[in-house]
Amino acid sequence: MARAVRIAGTGSYLPEKILTNYDLEKMVDTTHEWIFTRSGISERHIAAEGEATSHMAANAARNALDAAGLKADAVDMIIVGTITPDMVFPNTACFVQDQIGATQAFCFDVEAACSGFLYALDIAKNYIANGAAENVLVIGAEKLSSITDWEDRGTCVLFGDGAGAVVLSATESGRGIMGNVMGSDGRLNELLNVPGGGSRHPTSHQTVDDRLHYMKMTGREVFKHAVRCMSDAATRALKQCGLTVADVGCIIPHQANARIVNAIASRLKAEEGQVYMNLEHVGNMSAASVPVALDEAVRSGRIKSGDIVLFVVFGGGFTWGASVLEW
Ligand code: UT7
Repeated sequence: MARAVRIAGTGSYLPEKILTNYDLEKMVDTTHEWIFTRSGISERHIAAEGEATSHMAANAARNALDAAGLKADAVDMIIVGTITPDMVFPNTACFVQDQIGATQAFCFDVEAACSGFLYALDIAKNYIANGAAENVLVIGAEKLSSITDWEDRGTCVLFGDGAGAVVLSATESGRGIMGNVMGSDGRLNELLNVPGGGSRHPTSHQTVDDRLHYMKMTGREVFKHAVRCMSDAATRALKQCGLTVADVGCIIPHQANARIVNAIASRLKAEEGQVYMNLEHVGNMSAASVPVALDEAVRSGRIKSGDIVLFVVFGGGFTWGASVLEW
């Protein structure tokens, strides 16, 4: 019989430097008012020069291991969800392994854009449920500042850097991760991507001159799909668990835009107090958004033992998903 799997500890890390909307006013043709009213974001953290995704991920991982009361050598698998790996290869999880000394772990990355953390969580859950792993570090970490076009006001105002991590373990008390729904639609890949630097357009002087190594987004289209896919996934995941929105103690959505989050809450008929939002101070951190918000919610006492927690995400691909847990 499959074992129940729970989050045994959470951790996060945000780089020191803060970039405010007022700073952005000096970089592109924008205003604090536009950014805040259109997105809900006031400021975001930006990694230092030389600070890579794995450095942030390792800091978040150490905090999560401390919270779980585990040493690094008890970890038998590390999965990092990221679209900003340290290098094309080796994978970022291997760099994290090296930095935290998790010598017993096997390591790989999952690339599902902003949905990466939830996809990784689902993979890890299945390994543990089937008895193939005991303790897994699942990390969402991004240095989005490294793929942001700082001359494109339509995107550069939205993103931030950071990392969040959880330790997943088997549990005999409580239901842990109860259900999830995942989906993808590759037909819509052009609405949100980094076109250059891969095998389709390998890096060349031309791709750099054409700025293909930066993130491209058709914001308004992405917005519509994000609202629809996240509300559908959340509804289906709750139904799968025999629950309704009223049963949920805390909804942690991908922190892309306050207007997207509010639209989903309204479609789900969720009360304002049920939804956790931290994007005002961190922006959209892609795969790191949910685990950083989760760590904040847990450490501040917003999530308590026995609460039903709902994660819901959406990102490039398109990819999306929702997971339901008993805390
Ligand atoms: O992480 C997962 C994926 N990402 C998302 O889910 C993000 C989804 N999209 C969004 O959050 C929103 O579409 C944005 C925040 C990106 C944009 O908001 P919007 O309400 O969809 O605005 P828009 O793109 O339709 O642009 C409205 C106007 C345009 O001017 P015109 O054509 O009306 O004259 C833009 O050129 O706002 C202009 N604009 C700006 N003005 C000041 C675009 N960016 C800026 C800016 N400052 N930074």
